[in-house]
Order: sequence, then C-alpha cells, then structure tokens
Amino acid sequence: LPCAKFWDHILYKYQGYWMPSRQLNGIISFQKYFKAQNSDIILCTFPKSGTTWLKALVYTTLNRSHCAPNSATHPLLACNPHNLVPYFEMQIYGDENENPNLENLPNPRIFATHLPFSLLPPSISYSNCRIVYICRNPLDQLISYWYFFTSPSPNYNETNSIEELVKMFEEGICMYGPFWDHVLEYWNKSIERKDRILFLYYEDLKEDIISQSIRLADFLGLPFSEEEKDKGVIEDISRLCSFRNLKELEVNKSEDLWPGVPNNIFFRKGEVGDWVNHLSPAMVEKIKKLVEEKFKDSGITFKMTS
Ligand code: A3P
Repeated sequence: LPCAKFWDHILYKYQGYWMPSRQLNGIISFQKYFKAQNSDIILCTFPKSGTTWLKALVYTTLNRSHCAPNSATHPLLACNPHNLVPYFEMQIYGDENENPNLENLPNPRIFATHLPFSLLPPSISYSNCRIVYICRNPLDQLISYWYFFTSPSPNYNETNSIEELVKMFEEGICMYGPFWDHVLEYWNKSIERKDRILFLYYEDLKEDIISQSIRLADFLGLPFSEEEKDKGVIEDISRLCSFRNLKELEVNKSEDLWPGVPNNIFFRKGEVGDWVNHLSPAMVEKIKKLVEEKFKDSGITFKMTS
C-alpha cells in the first residue's frame, strides 16, 4: 500500500483514504465481521470535528428514560464519552480481538467510527441502522488536529509545524483524509437517505444546541415529549454534555482513555474560529480556495467564525 509519514504515525492509502497503520487491522476486521442491526446508531466523523460532543449527546438522549440527564449518578459524570460509545476501529476491533461478540450489547447499540461511508461494512448499507455525521469547518478542524498531535506542549519545529500540517491537508494526507472526500460522501448519502443519515455541523450545535438536540432526538426516533420540554430535559442534556461541564469532570481531567492518550486531550477550547489565532493569512487563503473548489455546487457551507 502507498504510505506516508504523518507526525509520528505511518499512514497507508487504503481504499482511497489515508489510514493510520496502527488501526488497519481493526479497520479490516470491522469491515469483515461487523453485522449491523436495524436499531444500531452509528456516529461517523472526521477526527477533531466534535465526535466527543456528539457521543455525549447521543448517549444521553437515547438513554434518558432510564437515566435522567440531571441525575447525580449519570454515567457521563464518571466515564469519558469514548468509553460509553466506542470506536469500531480503535476500541472494538483490533489486534487482540478480531471478531468480538457484540450481539448482547444493550439496545440500541451505539458505535462510532472515523471511516468514510464507502469503507463501511456492507451490512451497514443494507440494514436500516441510523448514521449521524458531524462535520466542522476545516480551519478549526486543522487547529484542533494540530493541538491533538502536539499536546501536551505545542512546540513549533520543522517536523510538526502548522505549515507542515496545512501542506499535508492540501495534499489530502491526514488520518482518514482527504477531508473533502470524507465529508462529501456522507453529505451526498444524507441527501439520498434523509431517514437514515443525519448530517450535522459543529458550528450549528454551538449556535443553537436546543434546536439541534430536538433535530437529533427526532432523527433517533425518540422525539422529546411536551412534558419533557416543559420539564427542561433538553436543557439538562445540553448542560450535561456541554464543553464546560465535561472538561471539569474529574474523570476527564485526570484519567487516560488509553496509555498516552489522556481524556483531557478531547477538551481543549471548544470554540468556533480559534484558527484566527494560529493560521497566517496566506494559509487561510489557500485552504479557503481549496474548500471552495472541492465543495463547489455541493450545497455544503462552512461557518468559519461564530
Ligand atoms: P478544539 O481543539 O477546537 O477545542 P473530537 O471530539 O472529534 O476529537 O473533536 C475535539 C474537538 O471538539 C476539540 O476542539 C474539543 O475541545 C471539542 N469538544 C469536545 N467536547 C466538546 C463539547 N462538549 N462541546 C463543544 N466542543 C467540544
């Protein structure tokens, strides 16, 4: 397979996308063995687009009847969202567990993946399971990515500068990239299959979490009742899942998701438009031009600032 170096990682070009070498076995097992059920909910994202937030929101929304979002014992208060909603390619399938038994997980099963639509196992396409995709403007996504790879102490140097990341991004070389193909595949499918694929923007959630939560619950088949609305359940969910709340939880401050990946790495700034503090005008122009070209006539519009 064609291969590229991306920071400390090796990427392989696999079925048209740049995949982290460490996850390739997990990806292949996922493609080979996963059998979707009609009730499954699958959260699909490009990295650093708001996956953690989406996991928290979907988990809380789907479980709210037996687990009130204002309960002092809510699982989200003690567990990182990535432990409640695992990634197929990183947590479920892997070198140690090629074909785990997923049949007896609580219904509905909620999973996540960074895989593009075209690489999902065939049973996902054939079943009636639901997919929620969240995307984020590429400028903020890039900066979030850069911090992720240079944490805990961002240090500029030739091998991991923002310039280098921008250059690779433009060439489509980044984990699960190219970015534009990833987004466009889900966007086009969401137009074809509105009942099965919900396409969300991170910036819309930031702007109006209440209306987006209602959209999400409707799509998941569990709309909020008038009674729930009156009782403030939607506000409770958005508060529980808010950046500020999750970031301050002890579990997210001091525990690791897995060795070398602390939970706090998933809660940096949580804003729209932080790229203005990091990207030069020339870099911004280049990316904006690329975005214009790649997303032309698609109907996708990215909000770059709040
Ligand atoms: P920043 O680095 O810009 O702060 P992912 O979850 O896909 O890895 O994306 C991580 C990004 O989402 C980070 O962006 C992180 O701070 C932000 N994020 C995490 N939880 C959030 C929440 N509850 N609300 C808003 N943004 C959140």
